[in-house]
Amino acid sequence: MSQAAQWNERAVFVTGAGGGIGTATVRALAERGYRVYAGVRREAPHLRGRERIEQVRIDVTDPESVAEAAAEVARLQDGEGLHAVVNNAGIIIQGPLELVPADELRRQFAINVFGPAEVVRAFAPLLRRSGGRLINISAPTARLAAPFAAPISASKAALDALSDALRIELGAQGIAVVTVVPGAVDTQIFAKADEAAEAALADADPARLALYRPRLAAMGAAMAKMRTSKPETVAHTIVKAMEAARPKPRYLANPDVRPMLLLARLPVRLRDRMVIRVLGLAKAA
Ligand SMILES: NC(=O)c1ccc[n+]([C@@H]2O[C@H](COP(=O)([O-])OP(=O)(O)OC[C@H]3O[C@@H](n4cnc5c(N)ncnc54)[C@H](OP(=O)(O)O)[C@@H]3O)[C@@H](O)[C@H]2O)c1
Repeated sequence: MSQAAQWNERAVFVTGAGGGIGTATVRALAERGYRVYAGVRREAPHLRGRERIEQVRIDVTDPESVAEAAAEVARLQDGEGLHAVVNNAGIIIQGPLELVPADELRRQFAINVFGPAEVVRAFAPLLRRSGGRLINISAPTARLAAPFAAPISASKAALDALSDALRIELGAQGIAVVTVVPGAVDTQIFAKADEAAEAALADADPARLALYRPRLAAMGAAMAKMRTSKPETVAHTIVKAMEAARPKPRYLANPDVRPMLLLARLPVRLRDRMVIRVLGLAKAA
């Protein structure tokens, strides 16, 4: 019996496994008996030595690193394919779009859009081998773009478009493509986003920044009141998507997602008024 078959018949690869939703997913899958390849940028001490979890280095913005990760997983799988690949790695770039540095906008798309596409290019053969499934982690902002969150919203809209096209392209080859949509989840992603935005705004033209200050403060206050779910709730949904006999194209992971998607379907002017009201932006104008 091959080494891979001894571990488990079902092996999966998850990007962004070093923290948040990725770590919760890796743990949930290992507990359920999967062989989990945890894609990390640098070794994650909390995943070291855990049964059924193998850390694999990957920077999704570097095609060479992605190709090496796929080759490493193929080697460890010893001829077996993968049951699933989870495109989870992601970041949030935020701020008034005119003040978001071009490099930051590019970084947003490099990680959230070009990265997952590169992962598809490198890992599709492993998925094809065992009729596996591709799970892309989206966000409600893909459908309901938020003010001062244009980069993350645009990146997730682009990722959703990739998923829609891939569902048909890869579906014909026996690879189901699934989108999982988390709501607001308690992870480090927001702290990292705040830090990057503060650094970017420190270099912004003060006169231009002053135009946005009151609304940015209102937005910050609204975000501070935001109720969050635990990463494990998203991991649970990812496992569900992975194990469904006939996976749905889209899974909503948390209760706050559906109202946002309903809001997204309102006529545009009404939708804008609702977004302005919900975020308390009118008072700040
Ligand atoms: N948290 C939420 O409220 C929320 C809501 C909707 C959607 N999501 C989506 O859920 C996914 C996971 O987010 P999270 O909340 O768990 O955030 P997180 O805790 O910040 O985890 C994101 C992971 O992505 C990794 N990553 C960043 N850049 C990378 C790169 N170039 N190559 C490979 N990995 C990279 C990070 O690694 P490092 O630690 O090394 O940077 C980290 O492990 C993201 O796609 C996010 O957009 C999150």
